[in-house]
Amino acid sequence: MSEAAALFDLTGRVALVTGAGQGMGVGITRALAAQGAHVVVNDLDPVKAETAADLLAAAGFTAVAAPFDITDAAAVEDAVRRAEDQLGHGVDILVNNAGVPVGMALGSFRELDPAEWRRYVDLNLYGSLNVIHAVIDGMCDRGWGRVVQISSGAGRTGIAFGISLYGASKSGIEGFIRHLSQEVARSGVTANSLALGLMANAVPGDDSSPAVGALARSVPIGRLGTPADVGAAVTFLASDEAAWLTGQTIDLNGGAVTN
Ligand SMILES: NC(=O)c1ccc[n+]([C@@H]2O[C@H](COP(=O)([O-])OP(=O)(O)OC[C@H]3O[C@@H](n4cnc5c(N)ncnc54)[C@H](O)[C@@H]3O)[C@@H](O)[C@H]2O)c1
Repeated sequence: MSEAAALFDLTGRVALVTGAGQGMGVGITRALAAQGAHVVVNDLDPVKAETAADLLAAAGFTAVAAPFDITDAAAVEDAVRRAEDQLGHGVDILVNNAGVPVGMALGSFRELDPAEWRRYVDLNLYGSLNVIHAVIDGMCDRGWGRVVQISSGAGRTGIAFGISLYGASKSGIEGFIRHLSQEVARSGVTANSLALGLMANAVPGDDSSPAVGALARSVPIGRLGTPADVGAAVTFLASDEAAWLTGQTIDLNGGAVTN
């Protein structure tokens, strides 16, 4: 019997994941590393970045920490070049996952101080652009690259939840990714957004809590999403096998919204 070919092999690829010190980013780095990628673990918080990179290294994977603020263009450029030197290769896979401003509070547009608007756009639009800018030339020059933008269902669906500026910033970056995908398609680089639905870390309490149970039942699949769900979808988008998939926003939401 012939041996089955391994799908989604990322051996030798360098993957940078932003905001990977906790939450979804941990699942993403874990999944990419398990497929053979060498991982650059970014977070705003240096301790979180170092701890997450150390955990990956302890599990036998290649990982380096790269703490920086994605909204600081010069810091992004410096840190990306340093991480590439450390790993001896340019970034092949970028997962723009940082997207929740520290201390994000819910509030309707009418309640929101205009001084608060900018930080959502700074993080999700300009911050994501800074990181893409630091890696896109290298990807195009080498003729292979993957940009995966972590977005949210709130980028396309209005929700009376008090997250209008967050949703607007996600819509903005999704729009940019569609245009980027067209500009770099002939260079072997794909760019897609992955729009997440209701994830378990967004709801306080564990599976035994009535509030979590009610929310889980509202999802057609019957549970909230996990970092591992996100890691699996990102791994596919980052793979050679996804070479013909670009310019799309893919919903990952347990069937909660179908388009
Ligand atoms: N959790 C959800 O329910 C949910 C739903 C839809 C979409 N998303 C998206 O998934 C992504 C990950 O969400 P999460 O729940 O894991 O977030 P999280 O808040 O648990 O973790 C995000 C990490 O990003 C880091 N970070 C924040 N600002 C940063 C900056 N300027 N530079 C670098 N790092 C920064 C934080 O320190 C934190 O460790 C985000 O883009 C978010 O918008 C999440």
